Amino acid sequence: MTEFSDQYGRIIDYLRISITDRCNLRCRYCMPAEGVENISHDEILSYEEIAEIVAAGADLGIKKIRLTGGEPLVRKGVPDLVRMLNQIAGIEEIAMTTNGILLPQSGAELVKAGLERVNISLDTLQEEKFKKITRFEQYQEVLTGIETALEVGLAPVKINVVVMKGINDDEILDFVNLSKKYNVHVRFIEFMPSGNKKLEQEKRYLGIDKVKEIIKKEEQLLPTEFNTGNGPAYYYQVGDSLGSIGFINAISNHFCSDCNRLRLTATGQLRPCLFSEEEIDLSEALAEGKEAIKNKFIAAVGQKPVGHSLNNETEFLTNMSQIGG
Ligand code: GTP
Ligand code: 5AD
Ligand code: SF4
Repeated sequence: MTEFSDQYGRIIDYLRISITDRCNLRCRYCMPAEGVENISHDEILSYEEIAEIVAAGADLGIKKIRLTGGEPLVRKGVPDLVRMLNQIAGIEEIAMTTNGILLPQSGAELVKAGLERVNISLDTLQEEKFKKITRFEQYQEVLTGIETALEVGLAPVKINVVVMKGINDDEILDFVNLSKKYNVHVRFIEFMPSGNKKLEQEKRYLGIDKVKEIIKKEEQLLPTEFNTGNGPAYYYQVGDSLGSIGFINAISNHFCSDCNRLRLTATGQLRPCLFSEEEIDLSEALAEGKEAIKNKFIAAVGQKPVGHSLNNETEFLTNMSQIGG
């Protein structure tokens, strides 16, 4: 079997594909209130181009795909893309990170097309606060989206919670209770700096060690059977919960030594790291064909840094919505 490894011995088998930078929410840690300047339709990769890129990556050892955004489901015809990717030899898993709002409309079709699982962003269980965080009112729609994901079998369903001091840190135990009651896997994520959010990030950042302290005052963190995913989260459960809770120490103890991923932006740039300064443009290679695309993948993997040097003092100006987190 083909294995794609970098100079530090990390096996790269996971491609995160941002299929649009548009979104139907404006989460304060991800996007400015006014949104980002829309890139025009002809600048973004077509589904055919994405499939060509994935086929080239699969030849080298990419096995897992995650569709991200912006919000991936605001782009039309996502089930068509999933179907195309699902037919590519070597692709073993297709997942998506979404805010869930549009899942009721397309969940069943996405499953039929070959989507296996979803991670859903939800930072509060309070309707009023949802408006404050996302600047929109679709709290109930997100809950319906989560229900749809469970109903149609997009499992395991993971819930992403970006922890923000003074905003949702009073709800940590409510989220733990959610994992007790439902078969969902709640992941607490450290707020990473992006866009022009440095001040906000400094003010709101709460490390996972503090989150665990809050939980441990009330609950014991027990080992869990649940340990799926290809990502940076590690999991526990409390009592005999149906789901589990996970932690993503994106800042305090970063997981770069186990990094297994590359990113593809909506405009066709390969990013060696989430926080890369450099991107590798695929437009010429797309015109030249598969071997040229494969060479770009090899170059991107060659440029993967040993780790990011971000801490909560550093500035990173790209909005998360442009790279899919
Ligand atoms: P699975 O574990 O496979 O379900 O996926 P995942 O956790 O990798 O994906 P998801 O899109 O749900 O991301 C969860 C959080 O991890 C988000 O806040 C991402 O921004 C963050 N994240 C994902 N990949 C990286 C990475 O390479 N570096 C850093 N620092 N954060 C990442
Ligand atoms: N810090 C941490 N996580 C973030 N995400 C978006 N922006 C940030 C940030 N600044 C998360 C979203 C989504 C995932 C793709 O990335 O909550 O779940
Ligand atoms: Fe949209 Fe997700 Fe960014 Fe929120 S975090 S604005 S849902 S892309």
